[in-house]
Amino acid sequence: MARHTVILIPALLLATINGTVTARICKSSAETWQSHIGILISPIMSDSRMQEIEIYWNNVNLGPDEKIVLMKENNSSSSFILYNVTSNESSGVEKTGIRTKFLPSSNLSFVQRSSKYYVAVLTTTGNVKETNYLKTNPTWMKERKHILSPLRMSQIFLPGTHDSACYAQENITKLFVSKYAVTQNMDILGQLIHGVRYLDIRVGSYPFTKEHWWTNHGPFYRSVSLQTVIDQVKKFLENTEEIVILDIREFPIGFDDISVHRELVSYLEDQFRDYFLTSNSGWAITMNDIWSSGKRLIIGYENMQIVREHASMWPCVRHQWGNVRSIEDLYKYLDKIENEDSDYRVRPRSAMAELTMNVMDVIYNRLGNLRDMAHRVNVNVTNWYSTVWQYTANIVAVDFVRGTGMVEAAIKSNENRHLHCRY
Ligand SMILES: *[C@@H]1O[C@H](CO)[C@@H](O)[C@H](O)[C@H]1NC(C)=O
Ligand SMILES: *[C@@H]1O[C@H](CO)[C@@H](O)[C@H](O)[C@H]1NC(C)=O
Ligand SMILES: *[C@@H]1O[C@H](CO)[C@@H](O)[C@H](O)[C@H]1NC(C)=O
Ligand SMILES: *[C@@H]1O[C@H](CO)[C@@H](O)[C@H](O)[C@H]1NC(C)=O
Ligand SMILES: *[C@@H]1O[C@H](CO)[C@@H](O)[C@H](O)[C@H]1NC(C)=O
Ligand SMILES: *[C@@H]1O[C@H](CO)[C@@H](O)[C@H](O)[C@H]1NC(C)=O
Ligand SMILES: *[C@@H]1O[C@H](CO)[C@@H](O)[C@H](O)[C@H]1NC(C)=O
Repeated sequence: MARHTVILIPALLLATINGTVTARICKSSAETWQSHIGILISPIMSDSRMQEIEIYWNNVNLGPDEKIVLMKENNSSSSFILYNVTSNESSGVEKTGIRTKFLPSSNLSFVQRSSKYYVAVLTTTGNVKETNYLKTNPTWMKERKHILSPLRMSQIFLPGTHDSACYAQENITKLFVSKYAVTQNMDILGQLIHGVRYLDIRVGSYPFTKEHWWTNHGPFYRSVSLQTVIDQVKKFLENTEEIVILDIREFPIGFDDISVHRELVSYLEDQFRDYFLTSNSGWAITMNDIWSSGKRLIIGYENMQIVREHASMWPCVRHQWGNVRSIEDLYKYLDKIENEDSDYRVRPRSAMAELTMNVMDVIYNRLGNLRDMAHRVNVNVTNWYSTVWQYTANIVAVDFVRGTGMVEAAIKSNENRHLHCRY
């Protein structure tokens, strides 16, 4: 029998609505919460679009007759072991050497799908103690409508992506620039189907191109057109009942005049006419009110003059950047923000859970590329947010989201808040 570590985590969260402070008090004695096994997909992709499967586990105290394995379902009645974990530590991550084919969003559906791969705790006699399948999460909010409904966005743990539109669905090491600009493997629709609900989109204006609006990472790297992002967000909203925050930010190129912002807003309003919720209610709105309105898209805009002028645009989510270069410093930074009384707030905030490199790091290739960096921190970040910060997290934005267990951590954490917190 797997013995799970039991840790008691009290957390006190405060928030104000119209000046009155409400406290959220959480306590956990839930035995299974601290213990977790899961599958990660490495951000590194081969030329033939294969990605390695990794296994991670956290706070799993195995009995002498137990082990963690990667299994594959052969058919409905039989499975076989693909990989045996060798470590006997209670937390860790191991590569398995097993590769799976990258599936583009055109191969995914709006119904939850499990792959044939799963991680399990097995006994020597072949009994399966615990399993966790690799799966999509296209409808997790709707399935938990009853627990999310009374809450505001700032009270929910939402999985997000950093620079969401800078994705490459191929081996990126071939292209020098993309080594330092690409942050995701999946396109926007793929991210949403996997459970992401916060999108961080940086828009550049290129008036002399046919498309005009593009997505960027900084001023020099142009990714896909904004139209591509819009079409995929609409497709997701049409096929689900999920709620999405689309944050339009940074404007790294071509926005030297407020008139350019106004042009972009009228394009966004036109494109999302039947989808966006107006900001009249402000961020104090509950999930239930959002669902009742029939409009499930919130468009954040990082320019307050524009927000004041246009009810279609919301004050954007507050990004919290540590600008750190090591895992230890990232922990210190995130620990600080997760324990701050910044919870006197209704506007959501996003912990930016990645390392940042400086120019010298790029020149001397000190930290490797963004995939290597993300790969190094993603398991740690997942473990922290599944344990110590499970009750404080709001939005957590990551690179290469399938290399993290953040979607599962968020779903589980929202369920635990429902069970163990008083508002
Ligand atoms: C990615 O492309 C580079 C350059 O062509 C190549 O050297 C490398 O082996 C490829 N990586 C994989 C995992 O296939
Ligand atoms: C099940 O797996 C075995 C090998 O482990 C293989 O020989 C057999 O064809 C598989 N059966 C099915 C139905 O896929
Ligand atoms: C499933 O696979 C097992 C192992 O390969 C085999 O013995 C069994 O007949 C298969 N069952 C079905 C229904 O295909
Ligand atoms: C895993 O371990 C079992 C039992 O020790 C062994 O029979 C099996 O061959 C191993 N499988 C792999 C893929 O290493
Ligand atoms: C893991 O196994 C090694 C060697 O078998 C042993 O020395 C060590 O104490 C074990 N560690 C744990 C956490 O069980
Ligand atoms: C990050 O995770 C690795 C693998 O589980 C672990 O060895 C390391 O101690 C962790 N680092 C920190 C700072 O928590
Ligand atoms: C993905 O979609 C393509 C085109 O519809 C299809 O040919 C292919 O078999 C699908 N692949 C998988 C693994 O479902």
